[in-house]
Amino acid sequence: MADGPITDAEFEQAGLRLAVDGAVATITLARPERRNALTFSTWRTLARIGDTLPDGVRVVVVRGEGPAFSAGIDLRLFTAEGVPGEDALAPRDEEFIRGLQAGYLWLRRPDIVSVAAVQGHAIGGGFQLALACDLRIVADDVKFAMKEPALGIVPDLTGTKPLVDIVGVPRALELCLTTRTVFADEAARLGLAELVVPVADLGKAVDDLVAAILAVRPSTAAATKRLLRAAPGNTLEEQSAAERREQVALLSEPAGERSA
Ligand code: ACO
Repeated sequence: MADGPITDAEFEQAGLRLAVDGAVATITLARPERRNALTFSTWRTLARIGDTLPDGVRVVVVRGEGPAFSAGIDLRLFTAEGVPGEDALAPRDEEFIRGLQAGYLWLRRPDIVSVAAVQGHAIGGGFQLALACDLRIVADDVKFAMKEPALGIVPDLTGTKPLVDIVGVPRALELCLTTRTVFADEAARLGLAELVVPVADLGKAVDDLVAAILAVRPSTAAATKRLLRAAPGNTLEEQSAAERREQVALLSEPAGERSA
């Protein structure tokens, strides 16, 4: 993996933009003419954004430019011509896939809260990117679909775990094997969206959520996320112990630091 700051040329090849404004980093999928199709460069650059995120960033917003959040993997990767500047798709080993998964995994880090702002299509790798985020604010035109099985592959960009955690195994299996589209009402009902708003209000809804998150003290937010993320894998006893540990640590911080 390359070291040092991400160059403009790398952002361009990845189809990404990054804007950091104090405690908020905004990652924009910026290839609207291809409906923000994703390539290996996109996933690797996402990983590097995670590795090089400035200290003090507490919220990461992931958004897509244009009518769609993301149409998933760039389908040209499945053709003999491929995509200029990108590796060939196959054959590949697990280490190769691990490098791509790194682009999504860091969005679960406890020191940040990640928010996907999703409008229009979020397909395959695009759906998994939304699932990789802690929270999903969606526009009422959202269309989620896990298309991988239709291409003869499995969803392998870390999406199967959050999908099952959110909707359960039977619904996840049904969504993946039918590859059908989930529209806004169902997304809200299934818990795939924390909030559904008109398309025109998406930016404002995300801003409001970000402001609310930033009102909580950083160490409290991190402890809360750690605790809640661990809960599904813990017994009640383990989780109660984790609550005690986190609380004792927070209460040992100077009182003046206990507000945001
Ligand atoms: N890969 C490469 N190019 C794409 C992709 C993609 N995944 N999706 C859209 N594009 C391109 C189209 O080829 C088209 O290019 P052109 O203008 O040169 O013809 C342009 O983006 C616009 O696409 P349209 O289909 O015209 O846009 P529309 O808004 O009508 O439809 C939609 C959007 C529904 C997303 C459609 O493009 C589509 O079905 N794309 C493929 C989705 C897909 O199957 N992705 C793979 C998922 S599996 C995975 O991610 C591992």
